[in-house]
Amino acid sequence: MPVNSPVNIAPAQGKLGVLIPGLGAVATTFIAGVEAIKRGLGRPIGSLTQLATIRLGKRTEGRTPLIRDFVPLANLEDLVFGGWDIYPDTAYESALHAKVLEPALLEQVKEPLQAIKPMPAVFEQEYVRRLNGPNVKTQGSKMDKAQALIADIENFRKTHNCDRLVMIWCGSTEVYHTPTSVHQTLANFEAGLAKNDPDIAPSQIYAYAALMTGTPFANGAPNLTSDIPALIDLARERQIPICGKDFKTGQTFMKTLVAPGLKARMLGLSGWFSTNILGNRDGEVLEDPGSFKSKEETKLSVLEQILQPHLYPELYKDLYHAVRINYYPPRGDAKEGWDNIDIFGWLGYPMQIKIDFLCRDSILAAPLVLDLVLFLDLAQRAGMKGIQEWLSFYFKAPMTAPGLYPEHDIFIQLMKLKNTLRWMRGEDLITHLGLEYYD
Ligand SMILES: NC(=O)c1ccc[n+]([C@@H]2O[C@H](COP(=O)([O-])OP(=O)(O)OC[C@H]3O[C@@H](n4cnc5c(N)ncnc54)[C@H](O)[C@@H]3O)[C@@H](O)[C@H]2O)c1
Repeated sequence: MPVNSPVNIAPAQGKLGVLIPGLGAVATTFIAGVEAIKRGLGRPIGSLTQLATIRLGKRTEGRTPLIRDFVPLANLEDLVFGGWDIYPDTAYESALHAKVLEPALLEQVKEPLQAIKPMPAVFEQEYVRRLNGPNVKTQGSKMDKAQALIADIENFRKTHNCDRLVMIWCGSTEVYHTPTSVHQTLANFEAGLAKNDPDIAPSQIYAYAALMTGTPFANGAPNLTSDIPALIDLARERQIPICGKDFKTGQTFMKTLVAPGLKARMLGLSGWFSTNILGNRDGEVLEDPGSFKSKEETKLSVLEQILQPHLYPELYKDLYHAVRINYYPPRGDAKEGWDNIDIFGWLGYPMQIKIDFLCRDSILAAPLVLDLVLFLDLAQRAGMKGIQEWLSFYFKAPMTAPGLYPEHDIFIQLMKLKNTLRWMRGEDLITHLGLEYYD
């Protein structure tokens, strides 16, 4: 028997506009990738919405449809892309500059990429100290800039004949800041916009504009952005799904694979040292201590939550955890992340694990952007609102309801994601409990 009746989900008809603040390496690798996949020039490797299956009912039933056949997702053919950047380069020029995808592949998708010209950005250099570009909105207060973004969004909706929209922040990492009174209520936030409160970051103005236009919002960077009461309440009031923060790709992805395994076997940890070299623009921005602090916070929080040292003090209380990122231009987007992990086992005997992950940052991030866009749109059509914890799977620092701790274990996150899809369709949730022992 189904545990609930299926949720009413509006069909995925018409065009889905994907609006991206920050048309850099991640955004252009995502857009170029979708265009390449549509033309049969590549496969959507790394994307659950395109490749993964979902088991339904008992194992004996043998029902494992593709996720995209199980829930009504937008088709790749129906996606239209737009965005903002402080540089005027088209998505084609930006993709060439990012040097993630081969020029020969980009040449084959040049036409659609060249048509994507970034709209002037809302930007403040105090929030991203290493960058400065000419394609920015300069007129008026922060509220005027929010209104200008709202006009951009409505104009995009009309020009591209979009049925629905989703916004996903792929902009640079802003400097670390903590919520202040201006972030607590919508009234404070709007008053702050009007009087140019310095505590309101550009990314927060985009998130506000998204929510004011009924657009679901995801945050791919570690910035505070929508993780503040004023915007979380606005999302709930207006019935709009939101999620964040910080795509879980390279080293933190590895961490959330390995740490739950060590903990599952009750092995101890005395140290975990992670260091990276990275040579793209993201790496350059993260050279600034303020931006690095935002990243460090999301990267460090992961182990604490997975290992639960308060429950297992003898195994994890004294863990020394450090994360470093070094800007090293020769590597470009091809990051190298090293982990030295000091563990201990039976009778406290020490052992070591070394990981050397030679990854490609934007190649890992692009399928996450695709899945988030499609799942947020699904959530919107299913009437889901506020923080979408079932999308924690994609983030280093998942947003959670106030007072709850985030779930970082990737396998629990995946189970939550799939169970949410089962719940939407009125299928039994899978607990992995085999009651056949009692037959
Ligand atoms: N690639 C990954 O694996 C990964 C993982 C987690 C998080 N992220 C985050 O995703 C974001 C994008 O990464 P990337 O490698 O594409 O970086 P990038 O530097 O190539 O692109 C970011 C773009 O954002 C633009 N930008 C900055 N502030 C803006 C603003 N206010 N409005 C509009 N545009 C703005 C910059 O000009 C730049 O073109 C970064 O914050 C990064 O930390 C990336």
